[in-house]
Amino acid sequence: MSLYDQLGGKPGIGRLVADFYARISSDPGLDQWFARADHTRYRAQLRAYFAVSLGGPEEYRGGDLRTVHGDMGISRAAFDTVIDHLSAALVAVEADPDVARKVTRELRSLRAIVVTPPGS
Ligand code: HEM
Repeated sequence: MSLYDQLGGKPGIGRLVADFYARISSDPGLDQWFARADHTRYRAQLRAYFAVSLGGPEEYRGGDLRTVHGDMGISRAAFDTVIDHLSAALVAVEADPDVARKVTRELRSLRAIVVTPPGS
């Protein structure tokens, strides 16, 4: 069974991303990135991205993540904060701990793509 199915399919992913996004967008420490974001678009794209990357039958039509984040100057610390919000969201939606660990590992693997290397 895919992680997508283990999280409850489309509605389960929807609940997870809604909780995750609420945490990110209300964190003052992330304001420098999210204060001006197009929240409706981002939440929808994030939902699609999560669904696809966790094995769901949906389609992600957003941009390539390296290109999208490339000029945002995202630090390792900001990335880790976002992953902490993901872990908290997985607890909030009562995901199975083993599933939660796998989902976190999957998303954490995007670090090198999303974080802008110092000096670049
Ligand atoms: C787990 C890691 C992450 C994933 C899976 C992810 C995913 C995405 C996706 C799917 C989009 C939309 C692309 C599009 O509309 O074409 C996006 C945009 C964006 N991301 Fe991320 N992201 C991640 C981490 C981060 C981090 C750490 C930051 C900042 C601290 C960040 C800031 C942004 C911003 C500001 C946008 C543009 C929002 C807008 O105005 O449309 N992302 N991201």
